[in-house]
Amino acid sequence: MRTSLPTNVNRGPAEIRWPPVSSTGKTRGVALDIATIDPTDQPTLDAAYRIAATVEARESPDLPPLCRRRFEAPLRHPMPGIDTRWSVARLDGVPVGWFRVNLHLLDNTENASIELAVDPAYRRRGVGRALFAHARRLLREAGCKRVVGSAVTPLPDEPAGATPVGREFPGAAFAAALGARPALVDVRRRLDVTALDRDRLAALRAGARSAAAGYRTVRWHGHPPAEHLADLAYLEGRLLADAPLGDLEWEPERMDAERIQGMERALDARGVRRYSVAAVHGESGRLVAWSVLSLAANTTRHAWQQITIVDPAHRGRRLGLLCKAENLEHTLTYEPELNAVDTYNAAANSHMIAINEQLGFRPVAGSTEWQSTI
Ligand SMILES: CC(C)(COP(=O)(O)OP(=O)(O)OC[C@H]1O[C@@H](n2cnc3c(N)ncnc32)[C@H](O)[C@@H]1OP(=O)(O)O)[C@@H](O)C(=O)NCCC(=O)NCCS
Repeated sequence: MRTSLPTNVNRGPAEIRWPPVSSTGKTRGVALDIATIDPTDQPTLDAAYRIAATVEARESPDLPPLCRRRFEAPLRHPMPGIDTRWSVARLDGVPVGWFRVNLHLLDNTENASIELAVDPAYRRRGVGRALFAHARRLLREAGCKRVVGSAVTPLPDEPAGATPVGREFPGAAFAAALGARPALVDVRRRLDVTALDRDRLAALRAGARSAAAGYRTVRWHGHPPAEHLADLAYLEGRLLADAPLGDLEWEPERMDAERIQGMERALDARGVRRYSVAAVHGESGRLVAWSVLSLAANTTRHAWQQITIVDPAHRGRRLGLLCKAENLEHTLTYEPELNAVDTYNAAANSHMIAINEQLGFRPVAGSTEWQSTI
């Protein structure tokens, strides 16, 4: 296990002449430098945010604008056990791309995740390739063996040519060109809350309630009640053991009550509002199922369906559907302007997808996790 990370990695700017050999001569001698982002360097953070927000708006125009607070807070308030390193690429002093890598200190110590984006005005000039080479060097020096990044795609079964004009998905071609392998296919589904059939939701919830005799539900917003922290840590820690991960080499996370509390504080720093419904087994008093919806600080209209998990010993009693349906109603009482909820599922996660489809979620976009050996 990695106990301490080198402190000298990626400190100084890496400057190279760009491109090394120019085919046209026009860009000969332009300087590309890649440097660590200093958390107090607000202009550079502004530029990185602008690039990230532009890219997201182009690839996922149906999502609300990227939340500034949610984007930036992880630099100063990373999740517990995460060492996050951000870098910016400048062409002749102009920020044109950025990446952040997350190193994992508590589990998955040989794994890292990456987000990398290049300003659309500066693409196909090798900036992405140079950023990735820089990230790979940094990760190698930190002892990582593999890195995972996701790229938005059309839906897996979308017919060729169905993608609207102006939308393009360069991430897959880029990842493949850099030697990464597609490891997991995800689908984003959306619930149109404005078209929600409340009677049907109430009927689903009533059906789930009768299948779940012997369990009671509890709900909260914000921080979970202290008495449930240990059970929540157990469930959260199981998540990656249970969800289909395709070819991703990712181990279950080591969770405990303290880490859950640290995650809650990190979410507070991002300004994320969150709502939970959980099911408690009457006989044992254990919390055995849990579902969370969250909203970014910059929206009252859009939510993400986050974790939903049922302890394997308590499956088959519609606790997942019960928690999700109740949590939707619970959230709507606090967030009356909500009009869309999105969620990601592995394309192979048939149980969860069946629950989501029952609630009215429908596929809107794809996403692939790419894994690369360092
Ligand atoms: C993907 C992205 C980072 C590429 O940035 P870039 O600076 O244009 O990439 P590069 O110029 O270094 O391209 C490297 C290679 O990737 C491949 N590639 C990149 N964009 C491509 C595209 N639109 N179509 C086909 N191949 C592409 C090519 O093989 C390219 O080499 P070449 O230009 O010599 O043919 C950029 O398009 C982006 O920000 N996309 C949105 C975010 C994203 O998907 N990030 C990657 C997640 S894994």
